[in-house]
Amino acid sequence: MKKYHIETYGCQANEHDSEIMAGILQEMGYENAKKAEEADIVLFNTCCVREKAENKVLSGVGELKSLRTKRPGVIIGIAGCMTQQNNMPRHILHRAPHVNLIFGTHNIQDLPRLINNILEKKETPQVKVLPDSQEITEGLPTCRQFPYKALVHITYGCNNYCSYCIVPYVRGREKSREPQNILQEISFLAKDGVKEIMLLGQNVNSYGKDLKTPFDFADLLEKVHEIEGIERIRYMTSHPRDFSDKLIDSIKILPRVCRHFHLPVQSGSDKILKLMNRGYTRGYYLNLIDKIKHNFPQASITTDIIVGFPGEEENDFAQTLSLVEEVGFDSAFTFKYSPRSGTPAARITEQVDEAIKKDRLQILMDVQNRISLNNNLLLEGKNMSVLVEGPSKTSGQIFSGRTDTNKTVLFEGRQELIGDLITVRIQKAQTWILKGEVI
Ligand code: 5AD
Ligand code: SF4
Repeated sequence: MKKYHIETYGCQANEHDSEIMAGILQEMGYENAKKAEEADIVLFNTCCVREKAENKVLSGVGELKSLRTKRPGVIIGIAGCMTQQNNMPRHILHRAPHVNLIFGTHNIQDLPRLINNILEKKETPQVKVLPDSQEITEGLPTCRQFPYKALVHITYGCNNYCSYCIVPYVRGREKSREPQNILQEISFLAKDGVKEIMLLGQNVNSYGKDLKTPFDFADLLEKVHEIEGIERIRYMTSHPRDFSDKLIDSIKILPRVCRHFHLPVQSGSDKILKLMNRGYTRGYYLNLIDKIKHNFPQASITTDIIVGFPGEEENDFAQTLSLVEEVGFDSAFTFKYSPRSGTPAARITEQVDEAIKKDRLQILMDVQNRISLNNNLLLEGKNMSVLVEGPSKTSGQIFSGRTDTNKTVLFEGRQELIGDLITVRIQKAQTWILKGEVI
């Protein structure tokens, strides 16, 4: 049997696109290979949000040069966001001539034809990177990573044009899937035993703005909540600007919507927020957090923060630190600003020194780690509902799972518990994880 191997970089949208690529390849008769060396098709599903991700891909692809020599017939393909940048396909083929397949985020459904062109017509390389004018393709096969939880796209693309971000340029304009397609997919997943759904979009709060019949994200949550068998509903990512009071009111009466609010703030300084084109102020953000804390006292709140955005001075960074203290995030994804070619921020002349970015990142991480630990310590002695995921990486007896608030919990478990919602009493809190015992 022929085999495929997919390496995925970047966000959950990419994770899910890889599940779709795997589904398509399995329908074509391929089976999964753990290692690239064993595969007949090796795909890299790439990310270009930061330069670091891009370099990782290019060095990973470089390592496959010897595979082409050893097995001339192997298909080596690059997919995902990186391929959608201007001139990137040409650049990839120049840098890595052993690559013989390139396709973009809008061309996943073309995979069978592209592969057949290589195998049967011997036409190589195959490159298909379409700009985003297409309809959404529904009904593609999916090979899910987990039986009990599933990722579901609700929107594609982004219309926000935050000044540092390349996503709108590579993933295109925002498009919402029709509600009936989403709901039908989730009903099938529920019948298949899926308990937790993660609704995916670059900005889920603007779901539905482009639909002909009025239907927004709150409406969608309500309908998903009615589907029998779905016990937890998550969503990623929310734009603070679009997190409406209507949405807060809806979530309040929908207990299966997880009490986890991931609200990327990016910076605590009004000057920087404006330069970032985020569309909100520090005051607006803090007010939103107050509303969430008031309505959901048990909620966890997490964020994304960029340090060293062009023009960020000591005083701006100090405001980010004070916002972090004021909100008391449960955790934060923290990044050094990475200039992305073609974005407005990359053209600002006052770029921050790499050494300063590095220092600020470390200071921010130290502050956040202290806060994360303090928040977690408050959970010691509490009983929490945990969806069991599987054995932990370090020991076969220790299992890991997640709380509704998206915290990782380790406990002594059994294989039969995988996919179950159980109660765990938290005994020990650490910065990144909680440890407990099954009740
Ligand atoms: N540099 C650094 N971080 C970035 N992000 C997006 N673009 C950049 C960039 N150019 C971060 C933001 C976003 C997360 C997914 O990645 O914090 O929320
Ligand atoms: Fe990028 Fe902003 Fe869109 Fe998020 S909302 S994908 S940061 S442009």
